[in-house]
Amino acid sequence: MNDMTIDTGLAIRMRGVTKIFGDNPQGALALLEQGRSKAEVQAETNHVVGLDNVSLDIARGQIFVVMGLSGSGKSTLIRHVNRLIEPTAGEIVVEGNDVLQMSLPDLRTYRRNTVAMVFQKFGLLPHRSVIDNVAYGLETRGVGKAERLEKAAQWIETVGLAGYENSRPRQLSGGQQQRVGLARALALDTDIILMDEAFSALDPLIRSGMQDQLVELQKSLGKTILFITHDFDEALKIADRIAVLKDGAVQQEGRPEDIVLKPANAHIEEFVREVNKARAIHVRTIMERGTFEDCQFTVPADARCEDVLPYFAEHQWVGVTNGEGRQIGRVTAKRVIQALARYTPGVGEG
Ligand SMILES: Nc1ncnc2c1ncn2[C@@H]1O[C@H](COP(=O)(O)OP(=O)(O)OP(=O)(O)O)[C@@H](O)[C@H]1O
Ligand SMILES: [Mg+2]
Repeated sequence: MNDMTIDTGLAIRMRGVTKIFGDNPQGALALLEQGRSKAEVQAETNHVVGLDNVSLDIARGQIFVVMGLSGSGKSTLIRHVNRLIEPTAGEIVVEGNDVLQMSLPDLRTYRRNTVAMVFQKFGLLPHRSVIDNVAYGLETRGVGKAERLEKAAQWIETVGLAGYENSRPRQLSGGQQQRVGLARALALDTDIILMDEAFSALDPLIRSGMQDQLVELQKSLGKTILFITHDFDEALKIADRIAVLKDGAVQQEGRPEDIVLKPANAHIEEFVREVNKARAIHVRTIMERGTFEDCQFTVPADARCEDVLPYFAEHQWVGVTNGEGRQIGRVTAKRVIQALARYTPGVGEG
């Protein structure tokens, strides 16, 4: 695949990707390009706009979240990355490779070695045990039995399913099946993992635990994770960057705090109004820089306001540290309260 390698420095780059479902997409595409809305195109041509001119740059080693309501095009977007869906127009480059130029054998290698996917509906093999499901991708890659079972057992343990190795998928709860799907994708050890509503079937407590675990795994393994959700709180908790989709078009793309602090339009404001802002805002965005004496407690710069609130019952401030654990600033209770008030519409403005 070397002859078509383009070094973008990005894990995933999408440019002007449009998908129109129906028999004559070109006619509908022309209308869309003239500025007609998804609803108008549908009324006039009976074609459905899945994606509308989507351009995204996804850097390596990020958790990039695509957020939007049901039908906004999230699954359609993620399925373009491993070419389960062909675009009507546009360009998709993954790790420097033009996905649309790949031959079938290239594509098979690419799906096996570069992008693993966790599906919205699990996609497990019903007649295989949990461990054989997790080892399946390694098997298709030709990894020997002892090695693949050992790796699979490790991932099963990581996702908290030790003891279930020999169960069948139907003997597991939805949340447990979801974790088998995750273990299967992780076992492939690809640089990129695509996760389509991968935590939606989990109950809140397990879901929260899986979110923490995903962030930890991402930190330690340095993977690029493209994560789909319709839950803004989930997006804020795990995302390095978020893109919000509506009617197949990107409404806003940015860091979680950019979206919360400067929503680009009324649609995004509606999401923002409902969320837990203490979870969205990192301490680094509101800290005072400097070194402060008598620092009793510290948190890393990527901690959220939510994480420091408990300290304020007894302390006026906590120190903030960089990656090496050195103090680079502090956050005071006052600053946190001001920040939360400022970004709650109607409270503390002016
Ligand atoms: N195979 C298809 N044929 C026709 N229309 C489709 C097809 N797949 C998706 N669509 C349409 O494309 C749009 C985006 O669908 P998509 O499944 O990507 O939404 P989603 O954001 O993943 O929704 P959900 O949160 O419900 O999973 C919808 O209007 C849907 O009806
Ligand atoms: Mg979907």
